[in-house]
Order: sequence, then structure tokens, then C-alpha cells
Amino acid sequence: MEISPNHLLTLLITRRKVCLFEAGSGDEDASRNSFLNDHIESARLLFHSNLSHSGVPVHPLQFQRYARSLGVDNDCHVVIYDRGQIIWSTYAAWAFKLFGHAKVSLLAGNYLGWKTQQSRSPQYRTETGEDGARRQGDFLSSWNESVIITFDDVFLNTEINTFDLIDAQTKEEYDGLAPGALYGHIRGAVNVPVDMVYDWSLAQWMNSSELVTTFANAGLTQKRTVVVYCSTSLRSSMIWWALSRLNFKVKIYFGGWPEWVVRAPDELKVLNRS
Ligand SMILES: *[C@@H]1O[C@H](CO)[C@@H](O)[C@H](O)[C@H]1NC(C)=O
Ligand SMILES: *[C@@H]1O[C@H](CO)[C@@H](O)[C@H](O)[C@H]1NC(C)=O
Ligand SMILES: *[C@@H]1O[C@H](CO)[C@@H](O)[C@H](O)[C@H]1NC(C)=O
Repeated sequence: MEISPNHLLTLLITRRKVCLFEAGSGDEDASRNSFLNDHIESARLLFHSNLSHSGVPVHPLQFQRYARSLGVDNDCHVVIYDRGQIIWSTYAAWAFKLFGHAKVSLLAGNYLGWKTQQSRSPQYRTETGEDGARRQGDFLSSWNESVIITFDDVFLNTEINTFDLIDAQTKEEYDGLAPGALYGHIRGAVNVPVDMVYDWSLAQWMNSSELVTTFANAGLTQKRTVVVYCSTSLRSSMIWWALSRLNFKVKIYFGGWPEWVVRAPDELKVLNRS
């Protein structure tokens, strides 16, 4: 699921079918500027707004049209990186999975990891400017229900309890203590903030023994499906990624807290734990 810069270089040199993407952030102008300034050779820029609108994934046919316009084929190896915020690339990876792409990887170490390699070997090339025109891809989208879940199913689960629920908001948001909006969590959800799966100071994922411990402490087991939510699914996608790597079955509840707070009955909301 994650490939090293060296592995990507080998794929590129041996001319394997790679669809390399730089996942843009929510700030499209800034993303475009940094992409034009420098990006990994042959990468194309992927706009978050073409994957999702305020947390809701676009229609599969819309994604198909977008992916094809970027040259995506059914049989290419999709490799995604971002500029270090992680959420954009994990969300894009989740989107490709949701829409049925078979082979999706993240680039370990992201853009900076590639630049570090470049300072040692000029084989790790980058380029500037627009990506060149590319032929239409033949990607055929579908909708993979094993990675997504809706309000109704999460609501039903409060009675039948068939899966475990993870809240990927910050602890303050989860506890209902963050300022601003009305925060809190779904009754029964356990909080796993993204800082528990990713070490920002080292710019790397927690190692697998740390992740195993974190998820065991959250009461998860591979025998049960895990559902994860936050507010826009961006942070959820990081938890989704970390759990998937450990072979958990995991789905994102994309409506998340903003939908729950509006639609669920009050007894299924935990608003303030102070
Ligand atoms: C990508 O999103 C932009 C802005 O919403 C839209 O104008 C464009 O048509 C989308 N591209 C495709 C190929 O769907
Ligand atoms: C759907 O996602 C699951 C979990 O990632 C994967 O095992 C399965 O192969 C996917 N199915 C399709 C049709 O893409
Ligand atoms: C994982 O990280 C922990 C904490 O940094 C460390 O003690 C442990 O040795 C690491 N385990 C592996 C397998 O690298």
C-alpha cells in the first residue's frame, strides 16, 4: 500500500503503467502554485474539489470523467503523494478505492522524501510547469461499499452494534470543549486523533507495533468492521489508511459529526464531557 521513492523510481524507469498524482490541498491556488513551481516528474495535480464537496464524495461518473481526463486506466498503478499534510493524499487514496480502482499506493516520505533522495541522486527528477496533455484514460468507476457507510447504517448500529466506531476529531472536539461550532461525538464512539497514528515531528507514520497498541487500546479487533468519522472525512482517511494497513475492515462515515449533530436524536450525541 505504501511504496518507497526507490520503488517509484524503478517503476518510472522501467516504464510501468504508473499514474502519479500530487494531491492538492483545500487551497487550490496555493496547490497549483507549488505544483507549477516543482513536482515529481510525470506527476499530475489532483484537485480535492474534484473528489469531494464538503466531505461528500462526488458521483462515481463525475469521478470517472475526472480520472479519465487525467489519463487514469483501470490497470495503472495509482501512486499519490502530497506536500506533507497527509490528509490530502490519504483522502485521495480512499477516493480511488471507493470508486473501485484496484491498485492504489501512497508514496512513503511524500514530496519531501523524494526531494531528499534527489539531493543524493539526480535520477530522482522533478519538473516545473503544467503537466503535459495526456490521452483519455479508460478507468471505469464503481462504488465500493466496503469502504463507505451512511447515516442510516450508523444509526442502525446504535441498536444492533455490529461494528466499532472511531472518532478522528481532536480530543477537544470529541469532548465538546473546542470553541466555535457545536462539538461532541456520537454516543459509543472512541476517540483516536490523527496524532496517534502519525508522528508529525518525524514526518512518518507510527510504526506497526505502536499502531497495534493504539487500536487495541481503542478496543478494536480485526474481527469487527470499524467505522471512522470526523467532520470532512480528511482526518478519517488517515485513520482509514492506518487501519487498512493492519488489515482491518474499515469504512468511513462521510456525513460525520456535522450530519450526526443535525439528524440524530439527542440521546445519541455526547456534547460536553467537562
Ligand atoms: C473539476 O472540478 C472543477 C471545479 O469544480 C470543474 O469545473 C471541472 O469540470 C472538474 N473536472 C472534471 C473533469 O470533472
Ligand atoms: C473494495 O474494497 C475492499 C477493501 O479495500 C477490497 O478488498 C475490494 O477488493 C474492493 N472491491 C472492489 C470491487 O474494488
Ligand atoms: C516502534 O516505536 C517505538 C516508540 O518509538 C519503539 O520503542 C519501538 O522499538 C518501535 N518498534 C519497531 C518495530 O520499530
